[in-house]
Amino acid sequence: MTESLILSIESSCDDTSAAVLRGTTVLSNCTSTQPEHTKFGGVIPEVAGRAHQHNMLPVIDRALREAGVGFQDLNAIAVTQGPGLSGSLLVGLTYAKSLSLALGIPLYGIHHMQAHILAHFVNSSEYWPSFPFLNLTVSGGHTQLVLVHSPLQMEVLAETIDDAAGEAFDKAAKLLGLNYPGGPEIDKYAQLGDAKKYSFNHPQVKGGDYSFSGMKTSLLYFLRDQLKENPNFIEEERHHIAASYQEAIVTYLLKVAKKKIQELKVSTFTLAGGVSANSALRSKALKLGEELGIQVYIPKFEYCTDNAAMIGVVGYFQYQASMTALDMAACPRPRWKLD
Ligand code: KG4
Ligand code: ZN
Repeated sequence: MTESLILSIESSCDDTSAAVLRGTTVLSNCTSTQPEHTKFGGVIPEVAGRAHQHNMLPVIDRALREAGVGFQDLNAIAVTQGPGLSGSLLVGLTYAKSLSLALGIPLYGIHHMQAHILAHFVNSSEYWPSFPFLNLTVSGGHTQLVLVHSPLQMEVLAETIDDAAGEAFDKAAKLLGLNYPGGPEIDKYAQLGDAKKYSFNHPQVKGGDYSFSGMKTSLLYFLRDQLKENPNFIEEERHHIAASYQEAIVTYLLKVAKKKIQELKVSTFTLAGGVSANSALRSKALKLGEELGIQVYIPKFEYCTDNAAMIGVVGYFQYQASMTALDMAACPRPRWKLD
């Protein structure tokens, strides 16, 4: 039997992405980003929805062309149904529904956070993590420790009670006068900074959950006090502040994860989501793996931040399991919980 050919579409936030997968092999993965938001210092939902409308067809066209296939070759469509911005999700879902109806092929509504985790399953099964494993998902909207029993069965064990780790990066970057999205900017500045120069405390949250809003506030007060003494403090110290703040976030993320790994006695730990592109998090997670004698998996850069290939992988597993396809009355699910 030939493997399924799936077109997947992702438009939950500010990236318009389309991919074509043969089985779990990525034939194309095309993303159009939205520079429109940079001047606002964050994603403006209405602007994102309009940009998706503009970008969607060209991105789908490009994905099909790069994969060397046509609409008539497809077996199924997979689209992000939630969580995310309602207007943004609606654009992807509407295109996907139209295609599914016109081509007479099933449509799968995909959970964005499940897809981030299944980014580990793109391409050859030789490199897939073995079940069960503990995954730390760190994105712009979520921070979760998830016990992954199988591609289609996941259990959220802990999550942030306020801001996500990505937000902690983005908000700090704004305070430091850096562009949106702030995570890659802080990562870049931190490369040349001394991570031990300043210290930022992280909170203790009962039950192994995370909290990030206090860290951002402590940075705000720290900068306010320093700027009173030296109005050029941020300019002069930006690299060291970025490195120290990044160190605090990464140490905190892995400290809580380590406790959970030891409690569960799992032998595999994985990272997923946009913040797993962070260089300090990647290297410290690998070190943690060495220390604990466990396997650590981190997706390739292009599969960490939002992309349609990861949506296609979930579509593949749902198609294989003959799961129920969406009907044409399906709506976006902006606040969809993982389990
Ligand atoms: O997963 P993602 O692309 O979108 C959501 O589902 O939210 O994650 C976006 C988040 C943003 O907060 C961005 O600042 C952060 O990922 N991010 C990073 C890095 N690259 C992206 N944070 C820290 N370091 C990075 N290198
Ligand atoms: Zn995401």
